[in-house]
Amino acid sequence: MCGIIGGITSDSIEKVLLDGLKYLEYRGYDSSGLALSENGKITVRKKTGKISVLKDELKKNPLKLAHIGIAHNRWATHGAPSEINAHPQLSYSNNIAIVHNGVIDNFAAIKSSLVAKGYEFRSETDTEVIADFLEEEKKQLGSLLLAIKRFFYIAKGSFALAILDQQEPDKIFFAKWRTPLLLGRGKGMNLLASDKIAFAPRIEEFYDVADGEYGYLQGDCISLFVYDKEIIKTPTFLPIDIKRSDIALGKYANYMEKEIDEGAFVIDKILREYTKDGKYKFDPELVSSLKNSEEVILIGSGSSYHAALLGCEYLLNAKLNAYAYIASEWAHYPRIRTKNPVFILLSQSGETADVLRSLDVIKNHRWPVISLVNIESSSLARRSNYVLPLFAGFEVAIVSTKTYICQVALLWLLANATMSNTAVIEELKKVGRAQRKVLSFKDAISNLAGKLVTQHDIYFIGRGLDYLLAREASLKFKEITYIHSEAFPAGELKHGPIALIEKGTPVIGFCSDETSYAHLMSNLEEAKARGGLIFFIGIRSGEVDEEKFTFASIDPQVNILIEIIYAQLLSYYATLRLGYDVDKPRNLAKSVTVE
Ligand code: F6R
Repeated sequence: MCGIIGGITSDSIEKVLLDGLKYLEYRGYDSSGLALSENGKITVRKKTGKISVLKDELKKNPLKLAHIGIAHNRWATHGAPSEINAHPQLSYSNNIAIVHNGVIDNFAAIKSSLVAKGYEFRSETDTEVIADFLEEEKKQLGSLLLAIKRFFYIAKGSFALAILDQQEPDKIFFAKWRTPLLLGRGKGMNLLASDKIAFAPRIEEFYDVADGEYGYLQGDCISLFVYDKEIIKTPTFLPIDIKRSDIALGKYANYMEKEIDEGAFVIDKILREYTKDGKYKFDPELVSSLKNSEEVILIGSGSSYHAALLGCEYLLNAKLNAYAYIASEWAHYPRIRTKNPVFILLSQSGETADVLRSLDVIKNHRWPVISLVNIESSSLARRSNYVLPLFAGFEVAIVSTKTYICQVALLWLLANATMSNTAVIEELKKVGRAQRKVLSFKDAISNLAGKLVTQHDIYFIGRGLDYLLAREASLKFKEITYIHSEAFPAGELKHGPIALIEKGTPVIGFCSDETSYAHLMSNLEEAKARGGLIFFIGIRSGEVDEEKFTFASIDPQVNILIEIIYAQLLSYYATLRLGYDVDKPRNLAKSVTVE
């Protein structure tokens, strides 16, 4: 959700910024821009569209060599994606240039007070309001640093800021509150960015700026302060643990296919990290805290919520009191039934604002939080009592694929660990092997996708865990193909949704469980009788005359992890056939840091 990068180099900064933006594109790609500072003058270039558009513009109209600059990828929150709303935003006098990730909830009130003082605004962004606020406060307080400190007291919301000031041209100022910001130190350069991937491989060490910290880069020095303490902090830098090769495309044309393929190997990783010689490696205290809990509440957004739904079923199966909630709902309407709940928060990024808002509520009550998170340095991981990393590796495509598999597999192991049931470890290994077999059906899945892309509506159905899987399949399908899709519990179709079935409407049924096979087939037949075009993805059971993908059942609890590879590939091939960007669907961002 917006990516920022800035830096000071002994060489040209422009290439460093553009390279960094490319690696931050997963955070937003509505528009991008940069501001360079040289000899006391700030020059800005902005463009709507992907980074390539900005790069083309800079080729056509090159900027002078500069050593200091800031840059931004935008995912629009306040104001449409346009050049005027793109960052950097300039203050009224054009003295201050600023890039911002986050949202200022009370920007309207700050704006009104600035309007009353005579400020006029060019954009619809909350970021321009920050620039003018800083300009005004600098006038009052005498320095930009003091103005930034004051901003912490006034602003409500989240912000990672990088700021240039024409009157202090050798510095980049920064501030951080509830959205990621890292500093990086390398040979002949100091950088800052939303994600350390934007630094690699130029930077050797990084520092994760904490909430409430602000300061500036100047030459090869970093000055760091804490807004509510009268101290100067010495940042502790850590060696950078990510290489660009970690996210190289290699033989692939896009990240989604690469990550679906990798998804068929992540179960092996989960097993390596969490089991050994057929036994669990979970901390016994963690397992007993779940076992003895009065209730377990699982919370997530999007695909992570869908994984939570499955996790909830696994925990119920282990005779634990479990409930799953959508983060944006639970945060504002918390539901707790007992005095001592244990929370499991799920998130790929660990920066999803809705999840962090739920975390605030939980932390206010001092309830324990276990997080299942892919980014171990994330805000969620840092604030959890216990972290179970997902080990999915970097997920670049906007849609979640391999992390969903890690989340579901890990929750299954965790639930079984509370029952000391180690037999499932072997079963999970087999699931990994079966997932890899699905990859050999790519051509056939692509052909099936070809039959779906001309449709307006697609329905995914299933019973029990298959319905929960169908919800994930449907989300995946609609978010990248832009074709309307919905998931229904198969038996519910006849209670209403069947009215939607017309001649040719695709209905895809999932079946991972022998006991629901006959009923699912009747539900598909009912859809067919109304003209529906029906497809079956599931266990090899009775005869299926329709178009189908079948596999040998391993365990009805985790067969859905085989089905998900079919579902992900189906969405992938449908999107390719439609000619859309599989990695960067419209309107979406990887890390949703706004509520
Ligand atoms: C769907 C997708 C999103 C995310 C959701 C939560 O493909 O990627 O629905 O699952 O935004 O993100 P995390 O897991 O980072 O909290």
